[in-house]
Amino acid sequence: MCGIAGCSGGKRGIKSVMNILTRLEYRGYDSSGIAYVENNDLCVIKSLGNLQCLRREVSENTNVDTVIGHTRWATHGKPSIQNAHPHLDASGRLALVHNGIIENYQLLRSGLSKQGILCNTETDTEVIAKLIGAAIVEKEETGAIINAKTVLTVLAKQLGFMKGSYAIAFLFRPLPNYIFFAKNGSPLVVGQGQGATFLASDENAIKENCTGVLRLKDGDIGYINYENICIYDKKLNKKKVHLSKIDQDVEAFNLSGYSSFLNKEIAEGIGGALKTLRRAKKEIASTLPDNIFLTDFDLHITACGTALHAGRIAKYLIERELRIPVSIDFASEFKYKKPILSNKSICIFLSQSGETADTLGCVELAKSCGATTIGITNVKGSRIAEAVDYCLYTYAGVEISVASTKAYLAQLALIYALVFYLAGVKGKKLSFSLHDITYILHRLENRNYLSSLNKYLNLIKQQSSLYFVGRGIDYFVAMEGALKLKEICYIHCEAFAGGELKHGSLALINDSSVVVAILTQKSLIDKMLNNIHELNSRGAKVILLTPFTKLAPEVFGLIKLERCRDMVSPFCSIKPLQELTLYVAQKKGIDPDKPRNLAKSVTVE
Ligand code: G6P
Repeated sequence: MCGIAGCSGGKRGIKSVMNILTRLEYRGYDSSGIAYVENNDLCVIKSLGNLQCLRREVSENTNVDTVIGHTRWATHGKPSIQNAHPHLDASGRLALVHNGIIENYQLLRSGLSKQGILCNTETDTEVIAKLIGAAIVEKEETGAIINAKTVLTVLAKQLGFMKGSYAIAFLFRPLPNYIFFAKNGSPLVVGQGQGATFLASDENAIKENCTGVLRLKDGDIGYINYENICIYDKKLNKKKVHLSKIDQDVEAFNLSGYSSFLNKEIAEGIGGALKTLRRAKKEIASTLPDNIFLTDFDLHITACGTALHAGRIAKYLIERELRIPVSIDFASEFKYKKPILSNKSICIFLSQSGETADTLGCVELAKSCGATTIGITNVKGSRIAEAVDYCLYTYAGVEISVASTKAYLAQLALIYALVFYLAGVKGKKLSFSLHDITYILHRLENRNYLSSLNKYLNLIKQQSSLYFVGRGIDYFVAMEGALKLKEICYIHCEAFAGGELKHGSLALINDSSVVVAILTQKSLIDKMLNNIHELNSRGAKVILLTPFTKLAPEVFGLIKLERCRDMVSPFCSIKPLQELTLYVAQKKGIDPDKPRNLAKSVTVE
């Protein structure tokens, strides 16, 4: 993954790049670094750990105008100062940052070593820096004058030797106010500010400084300097630069009094779901062609992580309420299982960021099989939004915390809206109405579960393993609850379908086990209570989330959920589970926004 940043112009280049990197930190935060030219010296500062560590080592007020920066999520080589970007060429004049993977780097590396150019790190990135640097030296040796045009010629040629995905930016000491760039696969955006130009892995990171931005296309190469943005295609034909105006959502980047973005985003979840629901009806009808669900079709859902858990609810609802079969897969599995797709297939891709490499790969595969592709994403103009035939948007607002919370609720809202739309097309009656959803969302708007959860937090904090159990639609919410606690609180969590307990998982249960159970489905009350008895008999401490508290179930802990129609219950049951994760993380002293080893946008396979 990784985030790359660049700024040329203005007097506070380091400060600008540090600010851009702060907004890109969701892409990775195991190490970071910057490079700039000062008094004809190429300065590189790197640090292990998140950006705070780098911040301590740089002087943000240094008067330099052209700076590149990087925040890393390790793919090749462990997190270390040595492996952190920027990486240098052999002459020490070129510093380069990269997001992506160079698949043939081993081959290129051995080619370099045959020329006597050795790499000092475990990264694929260093190879790019060394290759471009060596090719510039070769050019110099022919007596060529080295200017921006020659650097671009060298760059275009060297990129031809690289296989894989990249967004790169580099500084070359003899041309100190230029930042050269290239893009293929990984995202890269350039922007124009007042007397300065910028580049970054996403537009949110630079839009505050810019009057207009442009998302680069694969194959674009070029440079920015103080006032110019120059873009060329692979053959070095100059392209017209059309910058577009941008919506500013500056508030999304402020904590606004909350202790963390996770905390803020959980609180914003219901608002985002309501907004999505309000817009979805019209947008679904205007985006999808009238006849899309009228002919024979087979339906497939593909996603990763939390988005996949939302997808599981979509499958459950569509099959149960509309009797339409749906296949669902992890994007990382779908792509390689030779899925059965044809021009009758409709494939739905759920992705908050719209950038997840595995999901994007599946879009391309589905299209190559002639399938119709529908994206559901939170980010306009994202790669998945652009790649699919039709894109539907969620309105969760910018999500910053690595773990997805408000985007999940917005995805649910859109899924329910799509189910209504499908029901309309198919002339089917649903077991719930739109009003049931808005009613429950409004009831949840100011609901907070801290006082109900408080007495269990210390117990959960001490667990090294925790189980989640549910039946029917509750099982899918249990999966999402388990994922949240696992990724943020570093507790091993597993979700079980209630009926499956006795087919293996019960063997794990003893008197030190803690189980979070969800029971919202009227028709499954007896069955789920049986499962709770089975757990109690093995000594487990069961914390039950349910609206049916009058049943007085024999459990260790009881959390009362809002009462609603069975099929609408995920909105009610996910809220306390998201909050549980936040409070346990706080008890454990973990930064809930940046869980270790993870990143928000997974742009590598
Ligand atoms: C990463 C994030 C998760 C997210 C998943 C899918 O793993 O940490 O929060 O659910 O990617 O991301 P997407 O942007 O495709 O929904």
